[in-house]
Parts: sequence; C-alpha cells; structure tokens
Amino acid sequence: MLVTRQPVLRRFWYAVMPMEKLARSPQPFTLLGEDIVLWRRADGTPAAVRDRCCHRTARLSKGFLEGDHIVCGYHGWTYDGSGACVKIPQAPDLQIPAGAKVPAYHCQERFGYAWVALDDPLVPLLQPEEEALGHRRIHQFDEAWDTGALRMMENSFDTAHFAFVHKGTFGQGDQPKPVHFALDETDYGFEARVVLEINNPPVSHRITGTTAPTTTRTFSNQWHLPFLRKLGLAYPSGIRHTIYTCATPIDDTRIQLIQWLYRNDTEEDCPAALLNDWDTRVVLEDKVILESVDADAPVDVGRRDEQSMASDRPGMIMRKRLLALLREHGEQEVHGWTRIRPVKEAAPC
Ligand code: FES
Ligand code: CO
Repeated sequence: MLVTRQPVLRRFWYAVMPMEKLARSPQPFTLLGEDIVLWRRADGTPAAVRDRCCHRTARLSKGFLEGDHIVCGYHGWTYDGSGACVKIPQAPDLQIPAGAKVPAYHCQERFGYAWVALDDPLVPLLQPEEEALGHRRIHQFDEAWDTGALRMMENSFDTAHFAFVHKGTFGQGDQPKPVHFALDETDYGFEARVVLEINNPPVSHRITGTTAPTTTRTFSNQWHLPFLRKLGLAYPSGIRHTIYTCATPIDDTRIQLIQWLYRNDTEEDCPAALLNDWDTRVVLEDKVILESVDADAPVDVGRRDEQSMASDRPGMIMRKRLLALLREHGEQEVHGWTRIRPVKEAAPC
C-alpha cells in the first residue's frame, strides 16, 4: 500500500513533532508526501498550512513568525492559521484578493506533540488515559527511518522477532514464542495481550525493577488504525511502563518515529536517560531490519507473494482492516515495489 496514494489515510491524526521544536521558528514537515509548515501561535496552540506561499511559491518554513501569523521570507505576505493571507506589505491599502490563501490542516497539541490531520478526521484525536495524568512522561524518539509505516506497525506486534532481532538486549534466543498470546479486535483496531519471559541484564535492572537475570513481562499492546500503538507493560516488581509509538508516514518509504513513555516510578528510581539509552539500543536492533525490508507492505495479501506464519496474525489483521478501510472509501490498494525489485522484473544476470 503506497500511503501517499490512499486519500483516506489523510483523514487520521498523526503526531508530527514535539511542541518544543516550535518554540522559536516555523518548522517544515512532510506528511503523506505533502509539505507542510507548523508554527506556534501566541496562545501556544499549533497551526499547520501547506509549506508553499501562494505568491511565488517560496517555502513558508523559510519565513518567520509575527504574533499569531507566519510571514513569508520572500516578500512578506503574511498568513493566519486558517491559511488566509492577512497582509501584503507592498499593498497595505488594497483589499487582499480572495484567492490569496494556502490550504490549512487540522492541528492540535496532545501529549506534548503537535498532531496533524490533512483532511477531516474520521476519528477523534486520542485521549490521554490515566497514565498520562498520574505518571511521569518521557520523550523518547523523534527521528526519520527508511521504512514503511505499516512495516513498523506490524513489527510492533510481532512476537516472533524478539528471539532473533533482540537477542542482544531482552530477547531469549530459545523462546521464539510468547508464553501466552490473545488478541481481540476493537473499533479502533485491536488489543493483543501477551506474557513473555525476557532477559534482564544488569543495565535493565532499574527499568524492570528487579535484579533477577530474567523476568516476566505482561503486556497489553493496542493497535490504533492506521499507524499508532500503545503498549502497556507490567513487571512483577509493580513497575508500569506505557509506550506510545507513532509510525508517522512521511511518504511511501519513510516514517517519523515518534515515541514517548509513561512510568509510575520516579527519576531517582530510574533516570530518563537510562530508559532512553536502553530503548535506543532496542529500537536500533529493529531499525537495522526494518530498513532492509520492502517499505511497501501489501494489504491485499492475495496480490503479493509474502509467505506467512501463525505469529503474523496481528499484521494480517492490520492488512485486513486497512483493506476494508480503503474499500469503504471507494479506494483500491495502490502498491508498488519501493525498495526490492520483483523477481520477474529483475535484469538477467
Ligand atoms: Fe511569498 Fe512572495 S513568494 S511573499
Ligand atoms: Co523489535
């Protein structure tokens, strides 16, 4: 599924950057192939419009802020958060032409990030739950990866890769299957409940709250259509650790990985730097593999020749639900090889 070619995906909210990035100047971002610019208005709320001035096409992200407005750096045309041009400095006495505007997008702050929906959202922006109210929040990742959003999501629910990809951190090489796995589909996507034995090397003792060499991780892993997961981990030590992972689609072959977490302990118990160092190690293990796969994951599974196994079930449900979503909105899957050449088109050697 080429995400830039499926208009219905424009109707979801995506986390695009931490609000701190917007503290001083407008910031560019590419969402589903569309170049947008975000800024922070005087009241602190974010705004997003197309990153293209309607005068002579300069990028507005090269401009600057003036109160609530963004000013083009080329000739100073000035826009409000609705995308309307509100000032043309060279013609202050003339009425601004009705066509002097740029497309604006839905934009809100949530969880400390700016979220954007390019078209009218089909579902409301995710609400903070109890962990967002009572636990400390730690920003983890805001970085671009060369992989597809669906590949990243599937990987987040793939319990079969721990023993291989994560054998250098928490994965147990002789445990390719979880102890317990159950999955229920929901209106937002699905929830998987998993019990897993993990390695607990000394560096992760303060993270898991135990010095035992192995520990049990019980987790609820929610997939929210299309590319967000919420992972609630519980350890026997009583530590609760909730991760939100957004595979925000930049385009067909890149995502912005945005991740934050909540913990029910204190900075003294387990410093944020230690958590982030450990999770950086873990996600780098994923990154190496995910940047090697074909970024385009098929949702119409009959059309591509990937083989599957039982543990791929979460990903297969994602594909089924995404295909149903496309069809509900009158779309066909558009797909193409984005990284790997199909065998039948490969040049003879
Ligand atoms: Fe933006 Fe001229 S190109 S004001
Ligand atoms: Co992984």
